[in-house]
Amino acid sequence: MDPKSKNIVWHEGKVKKEDREKLLGQKGIIIWLTGLPASGKSTIAHELEWKLLEMGKLAYVLDGDNIRHGLNSDLGFSPEDRKENIRRISEVAKLFAEAGLITITAFISPYREDRKRARNLVKDGEFIEVYVKCPVEKLIERDPKGLYKKALSGEIKEFTGISAPYEEPENPEILVETDKESVEESVGKILDYLRSKKII
Ligand code: ADX
Repeated sequence: MDPKSKNIVWHEGKVKKEDREKLLGQKGIIIWLTGLPASGKSTIAHELEWKLLEMGKLAYVLDGDNIRHGLNSDLGFSPEDRKENIRRISEVAKLFAEAGLITITAFISPYREDRKRARNLVKDGEFIEVYVKCPVEKLIERDPKGLYKKALSGEIKEFTGISAPYEEPENPEILVETDKESVEESVGKILDYLRSKKII
């Protein structure tokens, strides 16, 4: 999106991303988790953040429910609001990655186009899409927040997977299947990928 303001000039700092990465001994990247509600995004994100911390790596989780309490408290779940939600998060994630952090995002992010826009904000290889996959029947059984029940009864409208769309990633860097693998296994897959790409 072009800025509304006209007389603004981008200012490069003296300290570069590479300098911060060198200081921290890691690469500033975005690990973008996407998947249906209750698929396990937040659980995996926080476990991954913890594992990275134990390895001496600085990571930070941006999480859907939390961000919607603050930065995005003015947004709902219409297609336009979800798009704006993801746009803002993408920009925040870019800043965090620029700061040298391993930035982990846990948002449904149901639209392919919005995820692609997030990817295009950073350099090739700095955006790692993780599809947190689980069949909707399993999620209806799980339903930790009771939201699927409410969506099925019509109490909640525009609920992803029930009455609002979810566009599956076509080519995610990593696929985790939470109905078949444990949290540790899913996190292990992501860590293996980061090692294979020399990110950690
Ligand atoms: S997104 O679609 O814009 O990416 P986001 O990840 O921020 O969604 O928020 C999803 C969380 O909001 C879910 O974990 C769920 O707890 C809650 N929620 C409340 N209403 C809805 C809804 N209609 N559709 C999806 N999630 C909802």
